[in-house]
Amino acid sequence: MKNFKELFDMEGKVAVVTGGRQGMGRTHCIALADAGAKVVVSDISKEDCQKVVEEIKDKGGEAVAVECDISDKSAVEKMIEKAKETFGRVDVLVNNAGIVEFRDFLEMKEEEWDKVININLRGYFLCTQAAARVMKEQGGGVIVNIGSVAMGQMGIGFPNTAPYVASKGGVAGMTAALAIDLSPYNIRINTIAPGMIETPMIDPVKQDEEGIKAMIGRLPLKRLGKPEEISSAVLFLASDASSYMTGAVVNIDGGWLVT
Ligand SMILES: NC(=O)c1ccc[n+]([C@@H]2O[C@H](COP(=O)([O-])OP(=O)(O)OC[C@H]3O[C@@H](n4cnc5c(N)ncnc54)[C@H](O)[C@@H]3O)[C@@H](O)[C@H]2O)c1
Repeated sequence: MKNFKELFDMEGKVAVVTGGRQGMGRTHCIALADAGAKVVVSDISKEDCQKVVEEIKDKGGEAVAVECDISDKSAVEKMIEKAKETFGRVDVLVNNAGIVEFRDFLEMKEEEWDKVININLRGYFLCTQAAARVMKEQGGGVIVNIGSVAMGQMGIGFPNTAPYVASKGGVAGMTAALAIDLSPYNIRINTIAPGMIETPMIDPVKQDEEGIKAMIGRLPLKRLGKPEEISSAVLFLASDASSYMTGAVVNIDGGWLVT
């Protein structure tokens, strides 16, 4: 049995992170690189990914920037190919990229529904399938999904976001199903369900100053989360420290669910 420092050590491992240019994706990349992983920083804008790559390289790590829209199958396949070509393997996939759009349900257009589902759910399917095929060949791997506490759970109201909540509920369901389907290939899959975290995604929510104050007031920890507080759990789930976990959804929400 490895000692506990070794269990969190990512030396020699290769991690692909989607939505890695900013917000939580950026801190997942840094957390994995700090622990020794070689990181593929992927997002819709390569230029911003390159800044994260430089940040990692400045600290002595290894990383590469890859442009990829996760709803585009051929772009996803190219991203996984690039990871293999650059670093030789894919040990970890962090499905993190996502969007939220606030719309009145009765006014919502079909394209608006499709856009969110295409990225947040279908995109996770495409990335997981492409990475899992490589992991199967290698003899194993780990997938970490970023879901949300807003996935249809009791106690979490998130108005005007039906496709977002449906997509995140879908990610939780996919996690349970794939934990069974991928276990014969030694591939583990788990989902983190964050509460409200300080990233550009919540800028529209913060515009309602009274609403956000009331929401924070209800939380036992009385504050929003920081991206790094999610990334430390990504590192745990990506590493051998979580070797007996698969099919789980882990809420990290400042206590939101108990209020
Ligand atoms: N911030 C929160 O409070 C919160 C809470 C729960 C869950 N989440 C989830 O966390 C994840 C990260 O979000 P964040 O809060 O860091 O927000 P963010 O907006 O800062 O980051 C999302 C990233 O995804 C990228 N992205 C969007 N569409 C893409 C596509 N088609 N292909 C590739 N990349 C794409 C964006 O360019 C961006 O860099 C998302 O899945 C989000 O749903 C966020």
